[in-house]
Amino acid sequence: MGNTKLSMIQSEPVQAKTDVRTNGSPYFSEQEIKEVRDGVDGLKSMLPARCYYDNDIYNYEVENILKKNWLCVGRWDWAENPGDYFTTRMFGEPIVIVRGQDSELRALINVCQHRWAQVVPDGSGNTKLFVCPFHSWTYGLDGQLRGIAARSLPGFDKKNCSMPSLRLEVWEGFIFINFDQEAKPLAPQLEGLKDVIGRHGLSEYRSGGRVEYETQWNYKLSFETGYEAYHHEGCHKSILGGTAHQYGPIAFGDIWGVYAGEPEDGRHAYPFGKPSWFTPDDEENFDEKSIFIGIYPSLITYLNTHQVTFIVTEYDEVSRNRAITANAFAPWAFGRPGADDLMKEQNGRMAFVQDQDTSCCQNLQKGLRSSYNTKSVVHPLESQLSHYYNWVMGHYLK
Ligand code: FES
Ligand SMILES: [Fe+2]
Repeated sequence: MGNTKLSMIQSEPVQAKTDVRTNGSPYFSEQEIKEVRDGVDGLKSMLPARCYYDNDIYNYEVENILKKNWLCVGRWDWAENPGDYFTTRMFGEPIVIVRGQDSELRALINVCQHRWAQVVPDGSGNTKLFVCPFHSWTYGLDGQLRGIAARSLPGFDKKNCSMPSLRLEVWEGFIFINFDQEAKPLAPQLEGLKDVIGRHGLSEYRSGGRVEYETQWNYKLSFETGYEAYHHEGCHKSILGGTAHQYGPIAFGDIWGVYAGEPEDGRHAYPFGKPSWFTPDDEENFDEKSIFIGIYPSLITYLNTHQVTFIVTEYDEVSRNRAITANAFAPWAFGRPGADDLMKEQNGRMAFVQDQDTSCCQNLQKGLRSSYNTKSVVHPLESQLSHYYNWVMGHYLK
């Protein structure tokens, strides 16, 4: 592990470099853009409420945000060994993430090129070949068509009949995919995060528990709720009330932001309890801070010395999606006495906190539908949201 101290990180938030101020957007008025980007009377606004329920806006975001940026689909060890795979789905596109015999991870469109049946049933497993359940055409783990059942087709070139593939990158153990073959590589865009996470060895964290659930809200709300600690005062009041002021933004990049909280007067800001139940071998590297990292538009994570908790979204409709909230733990944590019970406890806390967030997101989605929603306020204790809103809005103004 590296020894970079968090205090070395720039303490003043940096503005996003992208600064697109030409309007011409059919989606936002000049006034709305001003309220989000610059604020009025010193206070900024969230995105207009219709961004969370309007189908036209959602469809625009699918084509211009979600299909143009890197989307997290899981962790490296969800398909750890050659032949391991798991399925996911984005905007109706069936996708299979598979580790080939060459140990490379790939993202394939999970559709047979015969008559477009879904090839791999929803779920996970290990296989040597993918066999379509309809007429048994077979595909290699690289997506290439290997065999046509019953009778070959003279003159038919199997090479032109592969399952389409998407871009895939693994960053710090998180698997990201991108529908845009021309998209900028992800890792260089996250260089600035090295100072924040360098000491954690996050790429080696191994998966622990998870909860899967259907979200009855717009995908942005999952991200936004994890991207501020101000809601500790309401949503998580029973366990974290009175801690919101301990958190603040510490660094921003073009497509990411980080905020963190420090314990104060013996009162901790840890969402899942003070992590004293594990101590790394090298106590110098024990970090008392709780760090939240947002990588736009899809990954929100909570990180401390021994554990990362993150949300993966399977995008479906404007206000209905599927999501997974999951834990991964530092490799050394698995060897600690009583690790199984301690991890079970942490997973239980994760589920408890997610239930509270679920309740708040459902409630928020209901309120957003009101036709009286004309002016919102971003509180200074959730100021990092404005960096994210600015990033989202930039996709409408290009
Ligand atoms: S649709 Fe897959 S083999 Fe026919
Ligand atoms: Fe929360």
